[in-house]
Amino acid sequence: VTLNITMPGQRCGSTFSQLRLFLCFLMYCWVLADPVCGYFLKNCTIRGNLSDPSDMIVLCQKRNLEVIPIDIPQNVSVLNVAMNNISKIGKLDFKGLSNLKNLNMSRNQISQVDDGSLGHLEALQELGLAHNRLTTLSDHMFQGLVNLSLLHLDNNLISTIGSSSFQLLSSLKTVNLTNNNLYNMKDVQPIVQLPHLQELYIGSNRFTSFQSQEISNTSIELRLLDLSRNPLGIFRITADVLPYLEVLDIAYCGQLGRMEWDVLDRSFLSNVKRLNLSGIEMSFERMVMVLQTVNSSLVHLRLYDIGEERVKALTDIACYIPTLSLLRLHHNNISVLSKEFLQSCKQLTEMDVCNNNINQLSEFSFRSMEQLSTLKLGHNSLSSVPNATRNLPTLKILDLSFNIINKLGCSDFANLTGLTQLFLFHNQISKLPGCVFQDLKELRILKVGSNKILTLNDAFMRGLYKLEYLSMSYNKLSSISKGGFKGLASLKTLLLFDNQIASLEDGAFEGLVNLTELRLESNKITQIDIRNTVLTGLPRFRTLDISCNFITYVNDDQLDPPPFSHLTSLENLHIHSQRHKGLSHLPSNFLEGLKSLLAFKAGNLNIKDLHPNTFIHTPRLWFLDISKNAFTALKPELFHPTPRLNRMYLSKTRLQSLDFLIGANLSRVTFLQVSKNDITVVNERVLRSLPALTYLDMQDNAFTCGCSDAWFVHWMENNNQTQVVGAGEFTCNYPADLKDTKLLDVELQFCTVHLGLYYYISTTCLVLLTLVASFAYHFLKWQVIYGYYLFLAFLYDTKQRNKLTPHGCQYDAFISYNAHDEPWALRELLPELEGEQGWKLCLHHRDFQPGKPIIDNIMEGIYGSRKTICVISRRYLESEWCSREIQVASFRLFDEQKDVLILVFLEEIPTHQLSPYHRMRKLVKRRTYLSWPRAGEQTGVFWQQLRLALETKDGPAEENPILSGVQAL
Ligand SMILES: *[C@@H]1O[C@H](CO)[C@@H](O)[C@H](O)[C@H]1NC(C)=O
Ligand SMILES: *[C@@H]1O[C@H](CO)[C@@H](O)[C@H](O)[C@H]1NC(C)=O
Ligand SMILES: *[C@@H]1O[C@H](CO)[C@@H](O)[C@H](O)[C@H]1NC(C)=O
Repeated sequence: VTLNITMPGQRCGSTFSQLRLFLCFLMYCWVLADPVCGYFLKNCTIRGNLSDPSDMIVLCQKRNLEVIPIDIPQNVSVLNVAMNNISKIGKLDFKGLSNLKNLNMSRNQISQVDDGSLGHLEALQELGLAHNRLTTLSDHMFQGLVNLSLLHLDNNLISTIGSSSFQLLSSLKTVNLTNNNLYNMKDVQPIVQLPHLQELYIGSNRFTSFQSQEISNTSIELRLLDLSRNPLGIFRITADVLPYLEVLDIAYCGQLGRMEWDVLDRSFLSNVKRLNLSGIEMSFERMVMVLQTVNSSLVHLRLYDIGEERVKALTDIACYIPTLSLLRLHHNNISVLSKEFLQSCKQLTEMDVCNNNINQLSEFSFRSMEQLSTLKLGHNSLSSVPNATRNLPTLKILDLSFNIINKLGCSDFANLTGLTQLFLFHNQISKLPGCVFQDLKELRILKVGSNKILTLNDAFMRGLYKLEYLSMSYNKLSSISKGGFKGLASLKTLLLFDNQIASLEDGAFEGLVNLTELRLESNKITQIDIRNTVLTGLPRFRTLDISCNFITYVNDDQLDPPPFSHLTSLENLHIHSQRHKGLSHLPSNFLEGLKSLLAFKAGNLNIKDLHPNTFIHTPRLWFLDISKNAFTALKPELFHPTPRLNRMYLSKTRLQSLDFLIGANLSRVTFLQVSKNDITVVNERVLRSLPALTYLDMQDNAFTCGCSDAWFVHWMENNNQTQVVGAGEFTCNYPADLKDTKLLDVELQFCTVHLGLYYYISTTCLVLLTLVASFAYHFLKWQVIYGYYLFLAFLYDTKQRNKLTPHGCQYDAFISYNAHDEPWALRELLPELEGEQGWKLCLHHRDFQPGKPIIDNIMEGIYGSRKTICVISRRYLESEWCSREIQVASFRLFDEQKDVLILVFLEEIPTHQLSPYHRMRKLVKRRTYLSWPRAGEQTGVFWQQLRLALETKDGPAEENPILSGVQAL
């Protein structure tokens, strides 16, 4: 007999579900008690060195915040909450941030800062409150900021300042109160009195006068005073209170009427080095007085926007100040620089006449400036390089950008032998004559971008031996011919982006032995142009950018020869696309030869698949950006050749899973961006395969928000190595009723059972169970077997009940008897019940299906019959199978509450003999039964009672009227 039911697992199953519930409960308590300690901020991002808290930067700008986030880590050193909608700073908003050095709250709607809210910030050095709606600075607002040195309060509505609000800011050096509503100079008195204050910006307020006695009676430390754009009617200094002042800005003052200048003693401002008199409303005589006041110290003078006539006259006077070396004259509408104009300015080193209308210059304008090193003529109307800029051997920087120069001649830069920087961008130049730069033997930087240059000619063959940086972007170059840059042996950076280059000849970049960076993006280069013969002879080449070109590959798997095979020193290759269809397909040996490659940017190329050998030639790869492609899936083998990979950008690649990271051998990846994909679940193995990860961006994915995400949520909240950016914004995609709910708001705690502990406890249980089972089997063998069959019966019963349709009741009664009682059953019982009374009986010798496990037959017999008649004798009780039958039947009785059992005692059995048969004894105690009459007695009554018993419908045993009358044993 084989019993094909092996259910120990299921037996455990019921035990386990209870155990699990208990464990879940334990875990839940543990989760609740455990404070969040991970790098997980709902609204902000952490930057900087995660292991060194003194470096920790928390960025929360532009997040539509209305309050200061509550989850800022306590050891943060820089906090930026600029550009939000915060309107109020509460007392506890920054509680505990004792390491904070820089706090930026600019560009919010802050109108109220509660007293004491900043008091905890003892380490604070810089505080940004610019562009808010503050109207008053209360007495206690800044209390406690003993280390504050820089305070930004510009662009508020401040009109009054509490007399003691700055009292204890002993470290304050710079205060910016530009663009407020201050009108009373007495308000700034407490500020300028601070022992270390150096710079005070109070421009664009409503001050109508500046009088030294209003701010101090004694000398103060101030170095910089910005009073610009105030309607000052008078600037009066009656005592030497500003002996250290170096920078004075009174530009655009006096707009309500001409400003008075009353400085009692010429020695009072004798340290001023920089002066801004731009746009000032002041009589010419007074301006001369101003210049006389600073006569002995002025170095830098700015005279914007005061008109051509006045600027010429004032320049003449200013240039007699022997210390003056820098003069800026923007926005004065100067169109002609005559010979006389700058005649007195012999000592200038920098002359800046940008932003005028200059179209004519005297050949001798700058000749007298024997120390001139910087000359700025940008944003004017020059149509050619003026004669005046030639023959200036001291000149180092010449700026001619933003003019309308359309032609260059051979002598335009004649004798500029000291020139190191030449700016010619934003002109109309279409041609570079071969001789044009021949004298520029010291030139390092040349910018001729944004012109209309069509060809290189031979302009770079001569002169520019020391050139290191050449920008020719935004021109109209259509091809680079062989040796076009041949003379530029020192060139390191060559910018050719945004041209029309459609052809690169072999050897186009030859001679550039020092070239490290070449940028060719946004041209018309095709795959034919990036042959390996084009980029040869570049031993120091590090960076090549050929993004946004017309390179496409369809299906050719191998390129012969590979395009970059000579570039063994190349470290950065950028081929991403913005405008065009992209590469479509990346040939498997595209990167062959790039053995030094560190960074590969190949985004937006419409690539659907990457060959597993793609990176086989780039073992040092560190940075990989293949975002915005259409992969849907990647293979782990792809990353086997790149064990050093550190940063991966994979956003918008239609990925559905991160499982490819398992087994991808990416143990050094610290940065992973997989935002905007279709990832639904992140499992533990994925994140375990990235042990160095510190930054994970998974925003805009399609989370399922079920128990499958529970581990991920728990991990996000509790790991203290990896910061998951934007975690608070992760939204559910499934199930439908959770759609658009935030992942972190979904209750998943009951799924989060710590797996390690779970395994531990389950293993322990299993071991204990095994122990108990073997002990039990040894000492309580029969009870165990009994229990086992009882269990089977239970299972069968459940199964039967689950079949929903009630049992078809094939038979009226199942007869359970011992083989020894078979004669009685066959001779007495069968003829009477089947023959006389017409019941349909189930007898095992007759009705059991051969081949079926015996226990199944018993089950089916019992469950397929309305009643079970147990023919009880001493033998019956001793028989194993018979007691099993009684068990099954009694189980049905107790479980289904159906009266199915009819006990027929063939012989009298005293109670004490029933004792070993525990279940039987219990049955007999609780129930009534029939006894077969002793020999010689009448059997009629017995059969009659049996018929009645068989006729009773199923019902609770207690209500059976027939059997209850029969006497108990
Ligand atoms: C994140 O920002 C939202 C919107 O301002 C806010 O309701 C929420 O409380 C913030 N979360 C934290 C942790 O500050
Ligand atoms: C002061 O504020 C003005 C106006 O916002 C700004 O232009 C200037 O750069 C600020 N100066 C300093 C030193 O922050
Ligand atoms: C520049 O100098 C050349 C001769 O050296 C002269 O022919 C030309 O007219 C001058 N141009 C200007 C704009 O003064």
